[in-house]
Amino acid sequence: MSSFYKLGVIGSPIDHSLSPKIHKIFANDLGLQISYDAIEVNENEIESVVTNLFNQEFMGLNVTLPLKEAAYGLADNLSKEAQNCGSVNTLWKEKDTLCADSTDGRGLVKDLESKGIDVGDKNILLLGAGGSAKAVIPSLLKSKPKMLTIANRTPEKAINLANKFTSGECEVNAAAIDARLNSEPSLIINTTSAGTLKQAIELPENLFSDKVFVYDLSYSFQMTPFNKIAKEAGVKNYSDGLGMLIEQAALSFEIWTSHIPSTDIKREDLL
Ligand code: ATR
Repeated sequence: MSSFYKLGVIGSPIDHSLSPKIHKIFANDLGLQISYDAIEVNENEIESVVTNLFNQEFMGLNVTLPLKEAAYGLADNLSKEAQNCGSVNTLWKEKDTLCADSTDGRGLVKDLESKGIDVGDKNILLLGAGGSAKAVIPSLLKSKPKMLTIANRTPEKAINLANKFTSGECEVNAAAIDARLNSEPSLIINTTSAGTLKQAIELPENLFSDKVFVYDLSYSFQMTPFNKIAKEAGVKNYSDGLGMLIEQAALSFEIWTSHIPSTDIKREDLL
């Protein structure tokens, strides 16, 4: 008997979400029947909307900005990774239990690996200390990088995150964004919302070298503003976050359907 999977994504704004397209490509490749709706939801209505959707036989929901922390608060059963992140992007029901996971960090690491980047080898500089940073740090640390430095415009937030994630296996430091760094990173990950907000980004002095790999969590048809700055400063190897978006979606899809989709999707099919 073939199954039908009723799926969707909640957030605000939601109309530009690529998730419906990505999940429909996964389902098509696997010969599965799904529906995947993009549903505009505000923070004050998340609890009633999630309850209603699961009552309407939805089997899985993705959660995007700005609801990832609110969704964390709703879940009865959180994965270990979700507990570490303090936010979730994937919801599903097991009997009467609302379960949740955070697949963003694993998606990032998978995409880096697919680009030949071994996180375990790297001295990482993570720019930003907001929700996106928090969502990817646990997975990065699981890969045991040589060092992780968090730099943020508001230094207290970087210090708080560094304290929260200090582990025995990897040195986690905080740095001010307007200072000169005292170590040379080999992987720079931009988690700030500066590009999305169309704002100029403050950066540490002499940040880039031609040996560093730059990864911007945001994505766009044209080069992202951050990657443009990096390229102009001599960086040769960089990526935007489209691959991470596809990988985190694949991990959610697998949780809901137990099928592993191919993540080999062309940019032109999405953007
Ligand atoms: P998200 O959920 O997308 O991570 P967030 O939690 O609001 O959004 O966090 C945004 C991050 O981008 C913060 O680290 C923010 O720095 P502050 O903590 O100082 O606000 C960072 N950010 C936003 N605009 C920036 C800019 N123009 N330059 C540098 N950092 C910026």
